[in-house]
Amino acid sequence: MEEERSYFSSRMEEALEIKSLRRIISAYLNYAEAAEEDVRRYEKSFRKLPPAHKALLSHLPLKYQRLRRCISMNSFFIINMLQAFEPPLDMSQNFDIDESENVENLGSSHIQSKTDQNPEINNCRGQPILISGNDASGPESSRFRLESAGMCKPLRSNDKEEFDFCRYQQEMREEKSSMSNLGEPVISDNQSELCKCEGDDDKVTADTVLRCCNSTSNGSDRSASHDWMDPTFQLNVPLVDVDKVRCIIRNIVRDWAPEGQKERDQCYKPILEELSRLFPVRCKERPPSCLVPGAGLGRLALEISCLGFESQGNEFSYYMMICSSFILNHTQVAGEWTIHPWVHSNCNSLSDDDQLRPVSFPDIHPASAGITEGFSMCGGDFVEVYNDVNQEASWDVVVTCFFLDTAHNIVEYIEIISKIVRDGGVWINLGPLLYHFADTYGPDDDMSVEISLEDLKNIALHYGFELEMEKIVETTYTANPRSMMRNHYFAAFWTMRKKPKS
Ligand SMILES: C[S@@+](CC[C@H](N)C(=O)[O-])C[C@H]1O[C@@H](n2cnc3c(N)ncnc32)[C@H](O)[C@@H]1O
Repeated sequence: MEEERSYFSSRMEEALEIKSLRRIISAYLNYAEAAEEDVRRYEKSFRKLPPAHKALLSHLPLKYQRLRRCISMNSFFIINMLQAFEPPLDMSQNFDIDESENVENLGSSHIQSKTDQNPEINNCRGQPILISGNDASGPESSRFRLESAGMCKPLRSNDKEEFDFCRYQQEMREEKSSMSNLGEPVISDNQSELCKCEGDDDKVTADTVLRCCNSTSNGSDRSASHDWMDPTFQLNVPLVDVDKVRCIIRNIVRDWAPEGQKERDQCYKPILEELSRLFPVRCKERPPSCLVPGAGLGRLALEISCLGFESQGNEFSYYMMICSSFILNHTQVAGEWTIHPWVHSNCNSLSDDDQLRPVSFPDIHPASAGITEGFSMCGGDFVEVYNDVNQEASWDVVVTCFFLDTAHNIVEYIEIISKIVRDGGVWINLGPLLYHFADTYGPDDDMSVEISLEDLKNIALHYGFELEMEKIVETTYTANPRSMMRNHYFAAFWTMRKKPKS
């Protein structure tokens, strides 16, 4: 009886995870259609203009066509990224899920999935993705190994718990979705193929781009094993899900584009300098270990690795993991991709050219960046993965950047950090306290403990930390550097050391 219940429970959990992963993939696939819908809206408004006003704005119809080209470019990248994604679950399974089931009561029993049968393809379920520590000397060495580290915790991918990482991106919220453009997008080599596929009908849909990608995928038909990308598998997702895709596009700029350098210098550079100061000697044979919870698209974790640390990023959003895995593991050359990150808003643009500008990425070739052996990205909820006896005192440093306020219960985060940092080890933090669940008013009444910086420091003290350095750092988060509206955070930046027990 107990066995039966546990089997049901794990099947249910797997079903929910497949469903929510399908929803995330659908959000990515719906990106083009949702953007196209916006363009249609602009065209409709334009048509309503009186002739005299139309004459003054006669360039707009051309701009809308160019805008479509930008959307195709973004979509082309998205489709290529999805084609490289190996889902950790068997996406061909069809489940009938009773939505009334209470997911929270299911527990986290082990899920028998494609993942368990074949660890080679597991890159998203609490198992670190290790990328090779050698400098790439050719295509072979830049290919990444996936290795099991014995941890397996589900990613937070079910509908209820999917994290709202757009929360810091207030400008996007306030501007709402709107677009316009001028200027010809710059097209990178692989994306130039896209233009050849475009027909007379300029409307952008994932289907058109998908067909194009399949016909330009160097002869290897990757789509064969990707039935889950077929339009018939797609779910109709709410626009908030597509907004998350737009947020990911902005996060790409933050982490991987030359344009994000200023923001990286504001957020990541102080952390990297502090790490260098605290660990002046970093021995290759036994590098200090560093964990980066809430690693987003992985740039900070990679920079820490390049500094000579055995670095592990932890992330629980499939939106993020699909994208970081693609950039970290599949980049062939720097500047391989071009996107138009700012086309989703017509607001606060100094010019249409600004709004339309292309951004190439990544600014570096990750495999050639000089990472230290053991660099990994670990998928899973920080609380579930690291609140584990095996993790106790196992990290020399924990680095949290724009992460602490993602907690339902920030005290729990601090408690876990204090457990996993070894005695004498350090915790470096940089970020605001924009509690992510602060205004969640739902039937589920999610827990949200919102405390001041002062209280937070006292709690850290309670858990054995001593404040060694404290500053305020002014920074943006995924801001458009050419927008007339940019939110600035005055982020708390500190180093705390874990007092050795006397
Ligand atoms: C605001 S983003 C910051 C990302 C990155 N540190 C940066 O500075 O760009 C917070 C990240 O934490 C992740 N996250 C939130 N709660 C998490 C949890 N409990 N476990 C692991 N990752 C989590 C989110 O998915 C998101 O990618």
